[in-house]
Amino acid sequence: MQISFSEFSVPGSGTLIVGILADGALTPSAQEIDGRMSGALAEAVAGSSRFTGKKNTTLTLNAPSGLALGRVILVGLGKAAEIDALQMQALGGRVVGALNKLGESEAALVIDTLEGSQMRPAEMAAEAAFGARLAAYRFDKYRTKQKDEDKPTLAGLTFMSPESAAAEAAAEPRLRVGDGVYLTRNLVSEPSNVKYPATIVEDIQALSEIGIEVEVLHEERMKELGMGALLGVGQGSRRESYIAIMRWNGAPDESAPPVAFVGKGVTFDTGGISIKPSGGMEEMKYDMAGAGAVIGLMKALAGRKARANVIGVVGLVENMPDGNAQRPGDVVTTMSGQTIEVINTDAEGRLVLSDALWYTQTTFKPQFIVDLATLTGAIIVALGTYQAGLFSNNDELSERLVAAGKASGEEVWRLPLGSRYDNDINSEIADMKNVGKGREAGSITAAQLLERFVGDTPWAHLDIAGMAWMKRGDDPIVPKGASGFGVRLLDRLVADHYES
Ligand code: BES
Ligand code: MN
Ligand code: ZN
Repeated sequence: MQISFSEFSVPGSGTLIVGILADGALTPSAQEIDGRMSGALAEAVAGSSRFTGKKNTTLTLNAPSGLALGRVILVGLGKAAEIDALQMQALGGRVVGALNKLGESEAALVIDTLEGSQMRPAEMAAEAAFGARLAAYRFDKYRTKQKDEDKPTLAGLTFMSPESAAAEAAAEPRLRVGDGVYLTRNLVSEPSNVKYPATIVEDIQALSEIGIEVEVLHEERMKELGMGALLGVGQGSRRESYIAIMRWNGAPDESAPPVAFVGKGVTFDTGGISIKPSGGMEEMKYDMAGAGAVIGLMKALAGRKARANVIGVVGLVENMPDGNAQRPGDVVTTMSGQTIEVINTDAEGRLVLSDALWYTQTTFKPQFIVDLATLTGAIIVALGTYQAGLFSNNDELSERLVAAGKASGEEVWRLPLGSRYDNDINSEIADMKNVGKGREAGSITAAQLLERFVGDTPWAHLDIAGMAWMKRGDDPIVPKGASGFGVRLLDRLVADHYES
């Protein structure tokens, strides 16, 4: 789908979408269309008792009299003073969904200067374009027999506004963030026979084309570094394990301390010897969504040339049962020197992250580390699929993440850490064990283990197990399947606080 920007003019074909405000007040463009239609538009509004311009409602006029184009859609904007970025993104997303349902190929959305609105038309158009791009995502590459009526039809969407040049400029960085979200969704959607540690490493290496420096640690090097926890998880797999490091140096001062993002990249999680039940196990292809988000975030930040120094680190492994797999009861030594008793080989994400976090913290001395991981089923029990879990040793970083979540629409909710939870992972035989007390506080005890590997670095852990894959498909800018969760959130965090 092509996105373009122009000034307002009435097209000769396709669909034109114009806004209407709360209580049925026509926007300037709607008034102009109404004039061309000799008042038929206002009449249609008056004749439809249910359509009052309330947010998210629409009224469709087919073959409008006096106009050459195919269709006019009126879209409710609600109160001008309450229009915000997230509403405009959702509007752009809904428009894409509705036009594809109608089988339309070309359309234009008109955005006016609205009295009493906090947002300029350029900004409104840019946010709507961002939402449209996010909504248009498809992962159809493996469907060889898709029926025509199931294919998306919308080929071009124009955003018309009195500030089209400014709108296009404002949309640029947002669409680059969209590219990052698309990359994450693609990586997460791919099955595990296609995207496994080595092939994800290849995708990461391709990011050097956009100015990201890439370094790859092979098993041999990780052995030298003493990363026994990460290597233990991958030891039952025929596929090699890797850590990949991405670096974007966008700050004016190249030596300014970076911020760091770390992702869990378990490309398939069978559970290992503590094997998972077979029902639903196919979902565990998305157990690399934390790594996927870090990779997409790096692409987003480089794409929009963020003025920040950023490190992305991903731990890539496959968790398989095998004659060489690690056993329950095994004790592994991490790069930090701390030992972990592996009670359950299915609690593997924290093992991967223990070495990835220690490596990141000691190698780069970052201003902060945020890690993302599909770490626990328990976080889905606690928070469902609307917010990710946030755990942190730092109040300022937490507050910034919560605020970035609200601003981006990718929300996070803070849960506690504490010494009593920490005690629950003490082991009889090693420094710690990789599970807590049965089913109690499972997401917290997982986070407690991570905290033992971050030293004094300000750190936040996002448990995204409930957010990485959407079965619902009811969010207008997040289609069913891989959500790309984390890219918009963390792009926002960087933009709001860490760019000079
Ligand atoms: N990858 C899973 C967590 C998960 C569950 C992600 C559902 C997405 C959807 C993780 O590795 C895991 O297996 N966690 C166990 C931990 C337990 C063994 C302590 C869990 O949550 O059951
Ligand atoms: Mn697991
Ligand atoms: Zn896992």
